[in-house]
Amino acid sequence: MKSITDLEVGGRVVLLRADLNVPLDGRVITDDGRIRASMPTITALADRGARVLICAHLGRPEGDDYATRAAGGPSLRPVGRRIGELLARPVPLADDVAGPSAVRLSGSLSDGDVGLLENVRFEPGETSKVDAERAEVAARLASLASLYVGDGFGALHRKHASVFDVPGLLPHAAGELVRAEVAVLRRLTENPERPYVVVLGGAKPSDKLAVIANLLDKADRLIIGGGMSYTFLAAQGREVGRSLLEADQIDNVKHVLAEADRRGVEIVLPIDLVGATRFAADAEHDVFPVDAFPADRESLDMGPRTRALFAANLADAKTVFWNGPVGVFEFPAFAAGTRAVAEAISQVTGLTVVGGGDSAAAVRQLKFPDSAFSHISTGGGASLEYLEGKRLPGLAALEDGR
Ligand code: 3PG
Ligand code: MG
Repeated sequence: MKSITDLEVGGRVVLLRADLNVPLDGRVITDDGRIRASMPTITALADRGARVLICAHLGRPEGDDYATRAAGGPSLRPVGRRIGELLARPVPLADDVAGPSAVRLSGSLSDGDVGLLENVRFEPGETSKVDAERAEVAARLASLASLYVGDGFGALHRKHASVFDVPGLLPHAAGELVRAEVAVLRRLTENPERPYVVVLGGAKPSDKLAVIANLLDKADRLIIGGGMSYTFLAAQGREVGRSLLEADQIDNVKHVLAEADRRGVEIVLPIDLVGATRFAADAEHDVFPVDAFPADRESLDMGPRTRALFAANLADAKTVFWNGPVGVFEFPAFAAGTRAVAEAISQVTGLTVVGGGDSAAAVRQLKFPDSAFSHISTGGGASLEYLEGKRLPGLAALEDGR
């Protein structure tokens, strides 16, 4: 895999795919960690006289066509503004992704300038499973630049046009963030000190539930909380009320539980939950044991006995990977579970990696210093798939020599 110093970037337009998928409250960025993590590559390229054209996604725009998606947003405008603040100079934003405005922006950049394309997921072809549809977007993106740098670590597990297809069309290299992230994850896969404990939570369980079986031959213990755990509890026949549930994963989860049992991998699940009357910061809530969860409540956090159980199962760990908050930490009343996990991991002396945009945002919002963990990764799903030994499409594309 080439690094950016292997490319002659001076005076040339470099398409930089970054992961700037930051949490937003309206148009306000609530955690700019992914933007800051992308700055070293942006600055290094600009300092060497590259014309840096950044391509990134934000959220999951909805709609069948470009116009609907662009109208619905979210726009990358707040992200462009934040990059501009960090660079202390304005960062122009194209009105489109790879259309006339993007062509004009690319042509207007001088050496050392930084510009930003609109949310690449406005293009329906970006995320298409049809190769030809991705190829069409990829060709337009590639025509904007003469070199490609892949630095969007958190999106490397996506077989998307800007991640997977464009590097096939341009001479390319991996950015500094991707190189740093991969170096840490490699340490987790090569002989981790044991016990190796993986903590899984998060609000996007579907991707992770589908692949969790692959972790059984890596980790000694899986602690499963938050949005991930309700499907496990349901698979054990428990009532989970209106909690987040991936009903189509129940069979898979049953298989995971049986397989874990067979291999002697411990699976630690919640024993009590904080059930709220609705999804809101000020919702009424009570603690319920998992065998008496009311059908009309929604779990938004782990109960006190679960917090103690999770902490006890982290106390002897020598290696920890944590992906996904175990409660709705954005609401202070439902942050205790996530805080307890962060606290317990911060006391582990071995290699501790916190992975994912939301988990990273959580530890910062809960005021843990970055130094409380060995590494805070910008990628959740991407880290997980790497740890499972899967080949990440975006990484494979960067490794392909050209
Ligand atoms: C993330 O936030 O995990 C990455 O930016 C990828 O986003 P996605 O899960 O919407 O593909
Ligand atoms: Mg994420």
